[in-house]
Amino acid sequence: MATARREVHTQVSPITVQHPLDPLTPDEIEDAVEILRADRSLGKRVRFETVVLNEPPKAQVLRYKDGDPIQREAFIALLDNDTGSVYEAVVSITGSTVKSWEHIPGVQPKIMLDEFYECEEAVKRDPAFREALRKRGITDIDLVMVDPWSAGNFGIKGEEGLRLSFARCWLRSSPTDNGYARPIEGVIPVVDLNRMEVLRVEDHGVVPLPPNSGNYAAEFVREFRTDLKPLEITQPEGPSFQVDGRRVSWQKWELRVGFTPREGLILHNVSYLDKGRQRPILYRAALSEMVVPYGDPGEAHFRKNAFDVGEYGIGTLTNSLSLGCDCLGEIYYFDAVMNDSRGGVMTIPNAICLHEEDFGILWKHVDWRTGQAEVRRSRRLVISFIATVGNYEYGFFWYFYQDGTIEYQVKLTGIVNNAAVQAGEVPKHGTLIAPQLNAHIHQHFFNVRMDMSIDGQNNSVYEVNTESEPRGPGNPQGNAFFAKKTLLATESEAQRVVNPFSGRSWLITNPSMRNYLGQEVAYNLVPGENVLPFAHPEAAVSKRAGFMAKHLWVTPYHPDENNAAGRYPNQHPGGDGLPAYTKANRSIENTDIVVWYTFGHHHVPRPEDWPVMPVMYTGFSLKPVGFFDQNPALDVPPPSHHNGHCHP
Ligand code: CO
Repeated sequence: MATARREVHTQVSPITVQHPLDPLTPDEIEDAVEILRADRSLGKRVRFETVVLNEPPKAQVLRYKDGDPIQREAFIALLDNDTGSVYEAVVSITGSTVKSWEHIPGVQPKIMLDEFYECEEAVKRDPAFREALRKRGITDIDLVMVDPWSAGNFGIKGEEGLRLSFARCWLRSSPTDNGYARPIEGVIPVVDLNRMEVLRVEDHGVVPLPPNSGNYAAEFVREFRTDLKPLEITQPEGPSFQVDGRRVSWQKWELRVGFTPREGLILHNVSYLDKGRQRPILYRAALSEMVVPYGDPGEAHFRKNAFDVGEYGIGTLTNSLSLGCDCLGEIYYFDAVMNDSRGGVMTIPNAICLHEEDFGILWKHVDWRTGQAEVRRSRRLVISFIATVGNYEYGFFWYFYQDGTIEYQVKLTGIVNNAAVQAGEVPKHGTLIAPQLNAHIHQHFFNVRMDMSIDGQNNSVYEVNTESEPRGPGNPQGNAFFAKKTLLATESEAQRVVNPFSGRSWLITNPSMRNYLGQEVAYNLVPGENVLPFAHPEAAVSKRAGFMAKHLWVTPYHPDENNAAGRYPNQHPGGDGLPAYTKANRSIENTDIVVWYTFGHHHVPRPEDWPVMPVMYTGFSLKPVGFFDQNPALDVPPPSHHNGHCHP
């Protein structure tokens, strides 16, 4: 049993394309790059920011039947390091032609993975940087860590048009210790990423290195607790899901697994089998942007607000997962295939984890007169990936339940970003988490874009608030309250924030489909934990991440509107993305709509977050409301007694 459990089901991404939404294969990436290189005579100084599937028009995808011929296109964004110019191209891979080529003025693509390494090397070579280290008594350059942070856009003179990183530096005490325990405070190398040269080294004054190490790795832990007995997850007959290429089916659920280096995991064509009909719920769902605004006003720290999707490409930073640690049970892994910045292919093996989990009770009732007990165990399908962004880890988890519920959860862990302070200093905009180590207060905002298709493309959105009935003839005892539905008919009406006091949620309905009670079929967006930003509305981060200001946004579907903070948030002055998309205040009633949900995790660091942070959870749910005629999970069989899992 133990051997079977450790069996690794690794699957190389399918060579043959089975569906128009399958991600580009390694061959297709290479072909697309080659076709464009030849057509445009691209030189060596060109970096490929993005080479991804150019998703076919929705109508075409919805018409697609197994075996139909598939036309394949790549969307390519590239940066010419010599001129700093950005170009976008669409390449037909099946037709071996360049379909479009466009110069995009005034934008900066994301910081690419190769640039991370090259930037660190450039900083370490720089004499001014070495001088700043010498001033601090740091001599071993090999132990220095340089994290190239995005520069933001603060309207500062001299930064216009430059491709910049304001790097942040740390010092390890040995090659494997936690370098993030010792920030090299005050030293900010400013790097021109096009020339890969240090422009200057800002030095905001020497602060001693914090005295303590912050090690958490097993090699450093002197004593482990000894009272843990084995807890085995076994699935002797294998998992209950089936995988065919990128298509996953699990009980009544069906979906396709996509991936881009920018968004990471993408879900396509999510549907649920009900009375013999595969009923659509989501056409496409993915994380569209995230941002982490920090609250310290200091000269060395005000720039900290990472857009980890648009500025770094969260998918690029995906971990390769291994069995028994990240996921337990019978695992199926999907590899992630993407381009590197020179147009080559980079594969992250075991990037996406697919598995099942027991999830306690699904439903239960005991007839207290007869003693008859009916209980069903809940099981969920989990599709996830985990990304490491410098010091931080984010796990992105989609859960599918037997009662038709979909849940999205972000797991935050890793090492809190920090700064050194003088001995005795008590920080205002942060928490002392170790001697002379300040973890700044910050927030994590995520925006998930959900192209809804509740039983078809034309959907509407209602806000649901519960209200007290005024006292009077209709409510003589004052006990009455009721849920009130309000149609959100336009984009501006649909810019909303959570209200836990009215039990607020948002209902996505299909006005032309009714359940047997005559109600519009619907799914409810149920908020979880949420918060609003504390940055001033005029602060740079508020302009660049306008999506933070509202939790709910709804737009009519448009193929070019995919990014909550715009296509190129890196060094962007602001206003792009949802604020721009919704300016025309289009109708969103009974049409093909996209729901964008923003949720914020508020992080006042604790000493317990150090040296590595126990997982914090944040997310939301989509719950069927009248989508089914009744509890759709009555047909889940009772737990079996013979396998020892259920002793009377
Ligand atoms: Co945090």
